[in-house]
Amino acid sequence: MIFRQLIDPESFTYTYLLGDEATRRAVLIDPVLEQIERDCALLGELGLRLHCSLETHVHADHITASGRLRERLGAKVGAGARAGVSNADWALADGVTVCVGNVQLEVLATPGHTAGCVTYLCREAGMAFTGDAMLVRGCGRTDFQDGDAGALFRSVRERIFALADATLLYPAHDYSGRTVTSVAEEKRFNPRLHLGKTREEFLAIMTGLRLPPPKRIAVAVPANQVSGLVASASGGCEAAARPVALAIEQRGRQDAELLRGAGI
Ligand SMILES: [Fe+2]
Repeated sequence: MIFRQLIDPESFTYTYLLGDEATRRAVLIDPVLEQIERDCALLGELGLRLHCSLETHVHADHITASGRLRERLGAKVGAGARAGVSNADWALADGVTVCVGNVQLEVLATPGHTAGCVTYLCREAGMAFTGDAMLVRGCGRTDFQDGDAGALFRSVRERIFALADATLLYPAHDYSGRTVTSVAEEKRFNPRLHLGKTREEFLAIMTGLRLPPPKRIAVAVPANQVSGLVASASGGCEAAARPVALAIEQRGRQDAELLRGAGI
């Protein structure tokens, strides 16, 4: 399998490219609008044809490129069945497998950060793409988009920690340069969710975070509910690049969240 981990340095978002060597079909997990040219160039250089873009959830901190990639390359858009992406081609229920050539991704519903979060498991390669459900030594916040700390605790303990210990976990973000972890590592070292923590302790941690809201949430969430495509004043459809640029200008950085490693 061809595998690349890419980063959007503005939002600290990881995008993952998985490609099948035999069929040259590829999937992008969590593509970022501002990085669409980079990602299209890489697909071309590697001789890959984008089959689909998959969202781990409706993001609050950046806008997805999935809608634009569909327009440009004909790639399908997939998101969790409960994510609320109205123009997705695939509403992916728990247990469904997405096949990209010989690459198979199983969908695990892992709600809690948002109600619609999913994890994509590539069982053969021993890799799982956890979105914001599980970060390296952290987890996503649970105080908006129907977040639920109790649900996140269950998702991590009963779904992610149920995977083989050697499974590599690839998060949607990292704010300190870490790129990957494993089930065994997080069971031991995740400060919020290691096996010694009780549900009550986890709920107390999450309730006590008191994070400021992500400054892009008002722009990003509505855009991502339509795969990053927003209606222009003229009635046409255009990428949300201009509002995004404005939002970046106005928001500053979310350093309070970054320092806490809270995930957004
Ligand atoms: Fe998120």
